[in-house]
Amino acid sequence: MSGFVEKPEPVEVPGLVHLHTGKVRDLYRNDAGDLVMVATDRMSAYDWVLPTPIPDKGKVLTQLSLWWFDRLKDLIPHHVISQELPAGAPADWAGRTLVCRSLDMVPVEAVARGYLTGSGLAEYRQSRTVCGIALPEGLEDGSELPEPIFTPATKAEVGEHDENVSYEEVVRQVGADTAERLRRATLDVYGRARDIARERGIILADTKFEFGFGQDGTLVLADEVLTPDSSRFWPADQWQPGRAQPSYDKQFVRDWLTSPASGWDRTGEQPPPALPDEVVAATRAKYIEAYELLTGTAWTL
Ligand SMILES: Nc1ncnc2c1ncn2[C@@H]1O[C@H](COP(=O)(O)OP(=O)(O)OP(=O)(O)O)[C@@H](O)[C@H]1O
Ligand SMILES: [Mg+2]
Repeated sequence: MSGFVEKPEPVEVPGLVHLHTGKVRDLYRNDAGDLVMVATDRMSAYDWVLPTPIPDKGKVLTQLSLWWFDRLKDLIPHHVISQELPAGAPADWAGRTLVCRSLDMVPVEAVARGYLTGSGLAEYRQSRTVCGIALPEGLEDGSELPEPIFTPATKAEVGEHDENVSYEEVVRQVGADTAERLRRATLDVYGRARDIARERGIILADTKFEFGFGQDGTLVLADEVLTPDSSRFWPADQWQPGRAQPSYDKQFVRDWLTSPASGWDRTGEQPPPALPDEVVAATRAKYIEAYELLTGTAWTL
């Protein structure tokens, strides 16, 4: 079982057409035909959208993405047009809403990994490969890879697992030319972001991008970028391969959900329970800490 514990109703705003309710974002189209992307405070874990929001999370994700888009724009164009609030939008949309170019999305989760963990580690333990890429012997949880690798995944529906696929599978799905452009852009952007994060004491272990094509055929960086939801950020001074690394993300939520305190069985049919206040507060603080460390500015929104 998985999905939404409670499927949220879209907000009615005159002039906006609701297109899609994602796990975290609500998408609308405005009169100009642009995409209005609203990052809510919803949180997903273990393929569920949890019943308890994390206050301000959507604003942190949006502001951090904007900060990164600006630092990447000489490498690749991004989809953001403005932060202008549509007339009649709820006040709460401020800071979490982006007007974006509506793109023809490439149906691939473009993942770059510089370090081994998560689903990459699981595949490595089976076959010494990640997405079919051969890796040296002797790597463990958190090891740095000899060089960053492109490890694409298919985009799953709400409640389904994204699945790692080989580069050849991406070529089959989108063609050799698009596959190569995706791979190049993913590794270029990862390299830039890894260096920026490292200067701030953060290891960018891995991250997921989504790309789309504009009407003129340009490849555009879309969705959110380099946030705690799309990336693994590890404090560099605590990095120690051979164990799970502390990270700036959903760790508190995952730890609590899998602890006896939650009373929840991940593998069963029941939806996850509401989060206790202290788990919400600790998670909110982690998201804000990641924003402040990376951008070097205090969170004021
Ligand atoms: N510029 C864009 N044009 C069209 N679609 C976009 C653009 N940027 C992002 N998207 C899409 O908007 C959605 C963002 O919503 P969200 O992050 O909540 O979704 P998700 O949980 O990652 O995936 P899903 O939408 O399948 O639930 C994604 O489906 C993403 O592919
Ligand atoms: Mg998403």
